[in-house]
Amino acid sequence: MNSIKSLKIKVKKEIKRAQSLKELNLIFKKYLGKKGELSLILRSLKTLSLKERKKIGKEVNALKDFLEKEIEKKAQKLYSTLSVEESERIDVTVPGKKPSLGHLHPLTQIKRKVMSIFQGMGFDVIEGPEIENEWYNFDALNIPKDHPARDLWDTLWINQKSKVKNQKLLLRTHTSPVQIRYMEKHNPPLRIIVPGKVFRHEATDPTHEFQFYQVEGLMVDKDVSVSHFKAIIGKFFENFFQRELKFRLRPDFFPFTEPSFDVAISCLICNGKGFILDEQGKSKTCPVCKKSGWLEVAGAGMVHPNVFSACGLNPTEWQGWAFGFGLERLAMIKFKIDDVRLFHCGDLRFLQQF
Ligand code: FA5
Repeated sequence: MNSIKSLKIKVKKEIKRAQSLKELNLIFKKYLGKKGELSLILRSLKTLSLKERKKIGKEVNALKDFLEKEIEKKAQKLYSTLSVEESERIDVTVPGKKPSLGHLHPLTQIKRKVMSIFQGMGFDVIEGPEIENEWYNFDALNIPKDHPARDLWDTLWINQKSKVKNQKLLLRTHTSPVQIRYMEKHNPPLRIIVPGKVFRHEATDPTHEFQFYQVEGLMVDKDVSVSHFKAIIGKFFENFFQRELKFRLRPDFFPFTEPSFDVAISCLICNGKGFILDEQGKSKTCPVCKKSGWLEVAGAGMVHPNVFSACGLNPTEWQGWAFGFGLERLAMIKFKIDDVRLFHCGDLRFLQQF
């Protein structure tokens, strides 16, 4: 311990005396380099008892940190005294420090993948506002004010009215209002997808967030049917998961589609079994599909005639299908994540894995 203390005094003096960056670099190598004195001391600790090793190792590491900071401080001081000519003489061929690179959030990666697959099938990517009015989020989608179906979407209302139509404002509960906005302005035939953030006033659990992403899809033409939908969605799954995957459509209810169905895919967390093994090897209920073996990823259906009428299109002339995927659900299956809340928690230990 005494020699560590005297080493500290000795190196401090040498740093103080250093007149140039070159000299400072030599001091660094002599004490902190791979074969420097401190590294040798650390290596020699192997022969000591665990207790001694812990004690001395801690001291040596503290000294190492201290000296690194002292050298850095002195280097900055010396550097600031260099003339422009001198500083330009610094060896620019010395390899620089590698900047640490970030990457896209896993949900952005998934969103881009989904967009590129649908773009490859001729769909345009459209966006809409996150603050919506009641007309687009509900009324035009065949959900009148006093209809109980409104309760399907727990809404976050905004304490302000829209200036244009004196409509109540809200945070959109789904991406379906963009269907209306688009059909009001564009004549069929059309194929669009709409990725975007949506908000719901609901409690969270492993498959539910209060803020999540959806991707809406809409195809309208003269002769469009559920079989087109099945074919397109099947192609999408094949491309997205890079494997054949079981999916099923079951009857459901949405006011803006008739008939309506939910789209579920075989759960890849438990391989459709409904159970997974915990750390002790014991079987437990799959937290994602909750025993069912299936995971609901989208709502879908054939566009309701009232929706066409609300957009000024003739329902006897046009037919279409629409769907709304939960982007997090797709990401959960793709990356085998068993809790949706991880995506928005901002924990770098989670995010750096992608
Ligand atoms: C809708 O939001 C409809 N707009 C979907 C639709 C579009 C139907 C077009 C017909 C035609 P739903 O509430 O079921 O439907 O949500 C659609 C998908 O969003 C769900 O299948 C699920 O994947 C995802 N989702 C729903 N709620 C949550 C939540 N709280 N957290 C994460 N994902 C959710």
